[in-house]
Amino acid sequence: MAFLADERLADGKAVDAEMLRNLVQFMRMFAEQCHHGKEEQYLFPALTKNPVPHTRRVLKTLESKHRRVHTLTNGLAQAVSGYVLDPVAGREPVATIFRDIAAFYPRHIWKEEYLLFPIAKQVLSPSEQEEIGRGFSDIEPEIGSDVHHAF
Ligand SMILES: [Fe+2]
Ligand SMILES: [Fe+2]
Repeated sequence: MAFLADERLADGKAVDAEMLRNLVQFMRMFAEQCHHGKEEQYLFPALTKNPVPHTRRVLKTLESKHRRVHTLTNGLAQAVSGYVLDPVAGREPVATIFRDIAAFYPRHIWKEEYLLFPIAKQVLSPSEQEEIGRGFSDIEPEIGSDVHHAF
């Protein structure tokens, strides 16, 4: 959705304000509240109980990257508000924040896939993994299961 909006902005076309507001909601609720909530409330603490040597460094990095997502989300919300008020002047800030978000995620995902998950596989027992899974299931109703499903 963001890439589609970015292409339209680059072509000088208008982007539906409702879609932009939905993107802000998606970042706030799905990425931050739900996804980061699962990681920070359940996965990260479980890994610090029985850490492999570089765990704390990896977790510190990922926590700081989650704070970066928070900053990007606030930037997106601000850019979208500006776009709604003035779609011509507001175009460039929205396009810029989309590019920042697009540039951020591949490396963040790489770090979780190739630094965090191998640690998790190494230190978490099957029962600990089940416990974390139950924690994850508790988070989804907090944003509303229907909202989660809709995202
Ligand atoms: Fe994360
Ligand atoms: Fe993640």
